[in-house]
Amino acid sequence: MVAKDKQNRPIYQDFDPEAPETTEFRRIFTRISRRGQTEKMRSLLFTSSERGEGKTTSASMFAMVAALHQGLRVCLVDADLHRPRIDKLFEVSKEPGLAEILGEELSIEAALKATRHETLQVLPAGGRRPFPSELLIPDRLAATFSRLKLLFDLVVVDAPPLLPVSDPAVLSREVDGVAMVVRAGRTQRDVALRAKKILDDVGANLLGAIVNNADDVLPYYYGHSYYQYSGYGSDAERSEKEKEEGGRAPRGGDAASGRSAKARSRARASRSSG
Ligand SMILES: Nc1ncnc2c1ncn2[C@@H]1O[C@H](COP(=O)(O)OP(=O)(O)O)[C@@H](O)[C@H]1O
Ligand SMILES: [Mg+2]
Repeated sequence: MVAKDKQNRPIYQDFDPEAPETTEFRRIFTRISRRGQTEKMRSLLFTSSERGEGKTTSASMFAMVAALHQGLRVCLVDADLHRPRIDKLFEVSKEPGLAEILGEELSIEAALKATRHETLQVLPAGGRRPFPSELLIPDRLAATFSRLKLLFDLVVVDAPPLLPVSDPAVLSREVDGVAMVVRAGRTQRDVALRAKKILDDVGANLLGAIVNNADDVLPYYYGHSYYQYSGYGSDAERSEKEKEEGGRAPRGGDAASGRSAKARSRARASRSSG
């Protein structure tokens, strides 16, 4: 399952076309492309309030579904210049990439990386810079995204979180739509609302929320659309991960954790029976 990527395991190795989360991403894709008939939805950015909510996982899953199931020519861009991870998940070199393109050292074509899927290419983050946010100059971003849209049917952008850095706010103005990932049982409501306000203030086209780990607690949603995909990964993997992240307990409180255990066993039961 995808959650095993905590060791940066290549995400496509675990990509299961029949898995519940893949199905959810197909639904998300359908809903977003329906909107695309009226507004041009050719570049889509994934962000969230904080770290570890599932932006990279969601962007990768979405890109794979669009490329593998819908047959679109897709470019997955690692625009998290602070904590890039797409290169590891897709086993491509990290450099050169977006940093070099924005630094005007390289053409886009020279930085694109092929993946094992013919329809999916990756634009990795590129070389580490001391002040990566300074590379995000609106004119250059606009030029980069319009070139990418000429080369691909769909551009999927994995962005950093909204609260710690200004990057996603800047990036979100240069894409056609923004999806905000909310990790159920972890993202606090006021934190999510603060992040949403940042997007609203810059006039981002916020399409809706993707609720990650939605089996765990009651879904929280806002906006025009409501996207959801169920949690994945076994309990063992999950608690391993929690340990890895410094034992950070889910913020949902006792009631939420109680519900979560039940919901998880329900999810397991339905998976094993299906
Ligand atoms: N629903 C989930 N269940 C279990 N693990 C998850 C889930 N979503 C994400 N993860 C794991 O959490 C970690 C952080 O996810 P990631 O997508 O990198 O978050 P972000 O990009 O928002 O920082 C990764 O190890 C990922 O595999
Ligand atoms: Mg990430």
